[in-house]
Order: sequence, then C-alpha cells, then structure tokens
Amino acid sequence: MTRAANGARGEELDAVIIGAGFSGLYMLHRLRDDLGLSVRVYEMGQDVGGTWFWSRYPGARCDSESYVYCYSFSRELAQEWNWSGRYPEQEELFAYLSHVADRFELRRDIRLSTEVTSAAFDDRTDRWTVRTGSGETISARYLVTAIGGLASAPHLPAIEGLSDFRGEAYHTGRWPQEPVDLTGKRVGVIGTGSTGVQTIPRIAAAAAELFVFQRSPQFAVPARDEMVDRAYLDDVKAHYDEVWDRAHWSIGGFPWQHNGRSALDDTPEQRRATFDALWAEGGFKFIYGSYRDLLTDRRANDFVAEYVRARIRERVADPRIAEQLLPVDHPFAARRPIVETNYYETYNLPHVHLVDVRRRPIERLTASGLRTSDREYPLDVIVFATGFDAVTGPYLRFEVEGRNGVRLADKWAAGPCSYLGVAVSEFPNLFMVTGPGSTFGNLPVAIEHDVDWITDLIRYLRERSYTCIEAEPEAEQRWVADMLHRAERTLVPLADSWLTGANIPGKPNRPLIDFGSFSNYRRVCERVVSAGYSGFRFGSAVPDAGVETGQPSLVNGAVWVTTGREA
Ligand SMILES: Cc1cc2nc3c(=O)[nH]c(=O)nc-3n(C[C@H](O)[C@H](O)[C@H](O)COP(=O)(O)OP(=O)(O)OC[C@H]3O[C@@H](n4cnc5c(N)ncnc54)[C@H](O)[C@@H]3O)c2cc1C
Ligand SMILES: NC(=O)c1ccc[n+]([C@@H]2O[C@H](COP(=O)([O-])OP(=O)(O)OC[C@H]3O[C@@H](n4cnc5c(N)ncnc54)[C@H](OP(=O)(O)O)[C@@H]3O)[C@@H](O)[C@H]2O)c1
Repeated sequence: MTRAANGARGEELDAVIIGAGFSGLYMLHRLRDDLGLSVRVYEMGQDVGGTWFWSRYPGARCDSESYVYCYSFSRELAQEWNWSGRYPEQEELFAYLSHVADRFELRRDIRLSTEVTSAAFDDRTDRWTVRTGSGETISARYLVTAIGGLASAPHLPAIEGLSDFRGEAYHTGRWPQEPVDLTGKRVGVIGTGSTGVQTIPRIAAAAAELFVFQRSPQFAVPARDEMVDRAYLDDVKAHYDEVWDRAHWSIGGFPWQHNGRSALDDTPEQRRATFDALWAEGGFKFIYGSYRDLLTDRRANDFVAEYVRARIRERVADPRIAEQLLPVDHPFAARRPIVETNYYETYNLPHVHLVDVRRRPIERLTASGLRTSDREYPLDVIVFATGFDAVTGPYLRFEVEGRNGVRLADKWAAGPCSYLGVAVSEFPNLFMVTGPGSTFGNLPVAIEHDVDWITDLIRYLRERSYTCIEAEPEAEQRWVADMLHRAERTLVPLADSWLTGANIPGKPNRPLIDFGSFSNYRRVCERVVSAGYSGFRFGSAVPDAGVETGQPSLVNGAVWVTTGREA
C-alpha cells in the first residue's frame, strides 16, 4: 500500500489502463505478459469489448473487413478464429474480443463496471493517483488511456422537450442489452451517419412506420457483404504476413494501395470503368483502392462524388426522395465514409418516410412524438443515431490533472494538443492509445501500432531507470502544426463532422486526428525511436522514495534528460 496525494491509502501498481476494448486488452497483454508489470484495467462497461460491448443497435457491425478488423499480434489467434463473413455483426465482434480476453487470461486483471473518475499526477513521486467510482484509489507509475475515440462519449443533442417524450427513447451507442421489440411500432430515427445508415434498414424491417429525420445526406458506398466467402478468408490466412504487411504500410490501415493514377489524367470512360469495378467490389476499397488524388484534389473528388450521386438516383424509385438523399454540401469522403447495405432501397418501402430537417428543423419533442417547424410526428419510439463527442469527449468525461495541477480540460480548451497522439506535455507518464492527434483509418492496425510503441517506450524507461517521461512542449507544438498542415492538404476541412469537432455545438472546430497516411505516421514514430525518443525528456527520481510517508521524493525533474531532436 502507498499513500496517495490526498493522504488516502491506495494500492500500488506499475500501470493502470483505462478501457477494455481492442486497445485495453492488447495493452494489458503486452505490459503484463511481455514486460512483467503489475497492471490493472478499469472498464466502466459490464464486460470487455469496448465499442462492441456498447454498440448493440439493430444492424451494428464493422465496415472494415473482418480479416483486418482484428488483431495481428498472435498468428495462432488469427489462424484459429474463423470469421463468418466480410463484416461481422456486433455479437460476433463481441464474441471475438471476449475470446481474446479468455485466451490470454486477461480477465483476472480487469475490473468491470468500474469507472475511473479522476487521475492526478503526483510530482513528488512521479506516479499517478487514480480514483474510481467504486471508491478505489490506486497509485500507478504509468497511466494508459485506452478509452477509444467514440463509444465512450455518446452525443445526445440538446433538443427541447427531451424529457417530455412519453414513449421509448434510445441512443444507438447505449442500446439496451436486452432485445428491443420494435414490431408494429411508429419509430423515428434522428441521424443518418454510419450508425443511422446501418440501423435504418433493420428498423424498417420491424417497424409499422419509420420516419427518418435527416439533416445532412452523406455519401455511402455498398458493402456487398455477400461477396467474401470461406475460400477467400482461408486464402487471407494463408497469406497472413503479406496481408498484414500491406495493411501496416498503407494509407488507411487496409491492405490496398491507390492505383497510382490521378483521376484527372483518365478519360471519362476510363474513370467510369475504374469506379464501376470498385463499386462492384464494394467497401472501403472504393476509397482507398482508387485514384491517388480523390481525397486531396477537389476536381478529382468531384468526379467520384458525381458518380456516387448517380448511383443513389438509380436505387431510389421516387426522384424527389432521391434528390433529398444526395449529398451536396461536402466532398466525397471528407466525412468519415459510410458503407451500407440496402440503405437506399429502404426509401422505396411505403412505410418509410424521409423528413428533411434541414429545411424544416426539429423544434422539440412532445409527450407523443416529435415536432418539426411544419408538423408533428406521433411516435412510439425515438432512436438517436446522433453520434459521439468524438476523440476528445472520452478524455474530458473525467478529471485528468497533470504536473502542478494542470487540468487536461483547460489545456485542451481551444482544441487538443499532443505529441504523436500518444503523449501530452505537462502530463508525464500518461500514454494514450490512438489519442487525439494519432492516425486514422482501420483502427485495430493503429491500435496495435500504438500499443507496441508504448510498450517499447516503457521498456526503454525501465531499462534506464527513468521514472518519468514527458513530451517536450516544442515537439508537441510542432506535431500539432504538422498535423494541421497535413489536414489542410486533404479535403477534410471542407466538411463539418466529428472529424473536426463540428458535430458538437461549441466544440473547437479543427482536425482532431492526423490525416496523413498510416505509413507516414508509422515512419515518423520509427524516426522518433531511432533518434533516442526525440521530443521527449526523461527524469529520474529515487524510485518510489517518500511514497510510504507521503513526503516529497527527489524534487521533481531533478535529473532531466533530453535526447535528440524531435522528428
Ligand atoms: C458502431 C461503431 C462501429 C465501428 N466500426 C468500425 C470499423 O468498422 N472499423 C474501424 O476501424 N473502427 C470502427 N469503429 C471505431 C471503434 O471504436 C474502433 O474500431 C475500436 O473498437 C476502438 O477500440 P478502443 O479499445 O480503442 O476503444 P473502445 O472500443 O471505445 O473502448 C474504450 C473503452 O473504454 C472504456 N472507458 C472509457 N472511459 C472510461 C473511464 N473513465 N473509466 C472506465 N472505462 C472507461 C469504455 O467503456 C470502453 O469500453 C466503430 C465505432 C462504432 C461506435
Ligand atoms: N462500422 C460502421 O459501419 C460504423 C457504424 C456506426 C458508427 N461508426 C463509427 O462511428 C462514427 C460516428 O457515426 P454516427 O453515425 O454514430 O455519428 P455521426 O456520423 O456523427 O452522425 C450523426 C448523425 O446525427 C445527426 N444529428 C446530430 N445531431 C442532430 C440534431 N440535433 N438534429 C438532427 N440531426 C442530428 C447528424 O446530422 P449532421 O450530419 O447534419 O450533423 C448525423 O446525421 C462513424 O463515423 C464511424 O467512425 C462506424
């Protein structure tokens, strides 16, 4: 036992990890089983799985393809697990992560149903004091946030009359664990992002009447879930190293590269043939396996945007409804792309109604339904597919206090800053798995990278008896500037979405993630390591001196070392 900053007794561990999704499970495995550290994971959900514990709405599934939406660290795990198809549903993804927790005996070091409510860095001991909602206080040398960027922070818009509605209301990100029976009911869905687009066809299949309240139509490409069969998945297993190597060094964490050409150099017929072939394959390959400049050149993007709009028109019977479904206010894939199954055909069903709430805004909920500026919609159930306070939201839900009492919420008031998306100056010994400023795309690939990188860094610290590591403010500023510069070279800033914080009223609006490629991010991280962890400084206090008594150990930063220059 040790004495925490406020004098409370707390258990002493090497590391606390927050979150038991893809990130937290693998982080625990690496720190405990490879470095031999004492580690505990705190997870506020009632089971492991993270996103795939929480996201139980009808139709919830990944849109990354199964064989790369998983771990690659264990060849045995990859060989023994058989995905049922191309885009597994929530139940199967949850089963996979539960299997990982069992297979690697992770559960014994995971405390479920336990929320971390605060974490404060103690300058005197170079340790974090972590507090939980169930009253535990733990002292840990390292704090790893494996809290993801979405599932932990569902966004419920401040629509007037929320508490007046007498029917059932659900946010898709907190869907009940027991089945919700929508049979024969009048259902309203607010939101047409990835979640809305997945759930609307499923809800339509059950509901007596479905009203979709759409503010912004988005671009969606067909999933073609039926197209990957057992033989294909077996072939992927046989070429495991090759597939993963390509994913690791790709643009977006998928095992494809763009075709190397500019869309501007091809004739209209060639472009049509290219888009047709990729459209027939479906999924993210339509984006990442296409022309090299679709996501960076507005003229190239206009070609693909028009192609997708034409495809939407083909699938919707009523031309007036088709027009309402056409995205016109942002470039293709400048918002996080959507992959769909039967979405557009759903609007051909007589009991499905599209309501344009950009033209006729939602005014309020009433006891019996929802009122827009022109009429009232009586509803039995309202489904909020309204997204998340993404990327920073999970961090700002609890108190994080760094050196000298600096609050993370204050430091990030104008937008998040980090070094490589992994560390934050003034917050020593805090490591974020895919934190704000990290890379973006097929996330398990990014997660495994960050977990491995953090593990190597902690090993480095321990081999040299450093008790403290902190990102240098200059390195952090430079990383943020580079990241913003890379974002400017894409079309992302031309769209309002969670990628820039624009979906949350009042949230600073700027790119929250690095929109350079995965391979670029990986290369930068490698350069930082080969320059002796440039951009970080290291400190050595007497290990744990004063912990028992609560007296200061060495004056903080007594021995500071800075290595190399940041990348
Ligand atoms: C519906 C949906 C579908 C998605 N599909 C894809 C996809 O196809 N491809 C893709 O690449 N990405 C997808 N994502 C993104 C997805 O979040 C990541 O792929 C991945 O699951 C993130 O894993 P993680 O462990 O980092 O975070 P999460 O899965 O979000 O897990 C974080 C965990 O931390 C816990 N936690 C947070 N704060 C605290 C706290 N203070 N105390 C205790 N516990 C805490 C949460 O309860 C949560 O369980 C999807 C996201 C959603 C919501
Ligand atoms: N694998 C998958 O297929 C999958 C599935 C679900 C989620 N995800 C991940 O999760 C991310 C978030 O997806 P999401 O669909 O949950 O959220 P989202 O993309 O942010 O979409 C939220 C939707 O709610 C609407 N909305 C929000 N507030 C509203 C209001 N007050 N009135 C009317 N409409 C409102 C938004 O309209 P505006 O666009 O006008 O703001 C938008 O259509 C995705 O981008 C993806 O990364 C992936």
